[in-house]
Amino acid sequence: MPLLSVLSLCVQYQTAQGTVRAVDDVSFELEDGETVGLVGESGCGKSTLGKAIMRLVPSSDGRVVLDGQDITSMPNAQLKSVRKNMQMIFQDPYGSLNPRHDVGTIIGQPLSVAGWSRRDIRDRVTELIRQVGLPADAERRYPHEFSGGQRQRVGIARALALQPKVIICDEPVSALDVSVRAQVINLLQDLQQQTGVSFLFISNDLSVVEHISDRLIVMYLGRIVESGSGEEIWRQPAHPYTLALLAAAPIADPRLARGRAKQVLQGELPSPLNPPQGCSFHERCPMARERCGKERPLLRKVSGGRMVACHYDLLEQPAELPRVVSVAS
Ligand SMILES: Nc1ncnc2c1ncn2[C@@H]1O[C@H](COP(=O)(O)OP(=O)(O)OP(=O)(O)O)[C@@H](O)[C@H]1O
Ligand SMILES: [Mg+2]
Repeated sequence: MPLLSVLSLCVQYQTAQGTVRAVDDVSFELEDGETVGLVGESGCGKSTLGKAIMRLVPSSDGRVVLDGQDITSMPNAQLKSVRKNMQMIFQDPYGSLNPRHDVGTIIGQPLSVAGWSRRDIRDRVTELIRQVGLPADAERRYPHEFSGGQRQRVGIARALALQPKVIICDEPVSALDVSVRAQVINLLQDLQQQTGVSFLFISNDLSVVEHISDRLIVMYLGRIVESGSGEEIWRQPAHPYTLALLAAAPIADPRLARGRAKQVLQGELPSPLNPPQGCSFHERCPMARERCGKERPLLRKVSGGRMVACHYDLLEQPAELPRVVSVAS
């Protein structure tokens, strides 16, 4: 049984302009000790999906099962056990820490909610501060006294406090300088080795998640368009949107860069208030045919563990590749 199962989850926001389908029929699983990378452009619904799994925003349909327990309609009073097992590191290390609380209070907050004694909290906070590599005197200092990378370490320590089984990492390094990104990612990987925690790792940059993820999920306008092993997707994407994301990602290895498009995705993400008919990517897709504007492709298994939502995917139609990729010189 997977540690976390997300089944046909939907989240809608009611706005003055209408209903935003931010997450639309998303299903995936996360195993013990596994890292699943979740990628897609800004606004495609990554944070909303993370928050809905955590029950921080309500879902309109679907289910979330954590460790065999359906948490979707669990009364709020019972959510304590969920909070113990599942935590989130937020996208913004500046906004997500209460500026009026010292770091010790912030890191210890989940412990005090869980009813730990003051003494136990103090001991655990000291241990966490050491574990995430913050200075020993961090406990009595305030968030504004720390750099972005250090603040994200505070967020990581808080997420680790109750030894959760799952941590949803929402773009934990996007707000950080490139120079400290690798440090924070290495820290997360070390912590995973030590504790066996599973990560849902959200990013809008495929090159960040590709090498740390066991599996990748690519989202477009609230829906999964491709999923599979990171290595396979990196080597040969099946969905034209994934190919476009790959083309936009910086490629460190020149062997991989050869023959890969340099062009960036054309056009803007359509409004989720008024998603296109048929395949939601068809207006931007260089491979689109008549059918794509009429019929929405279902997410289907193509090979091994790979799933793709495309009528004419690139694994079946490799001959299409030259039309999509303008070969890099
Ligand atoms: N509280 C809200 N009320 C109404 N609409 C919202 C709300 N939060 C998000 N949205 C909309 O839902 C969609 C998904 O937003 P979300 O923040 O989940 O995207 P994201 O993939 O995390 O983007 P980013 O990479 O910029 O963080 C967007 O169209 C966004 O405008
Ligand atoms: Mg987000």
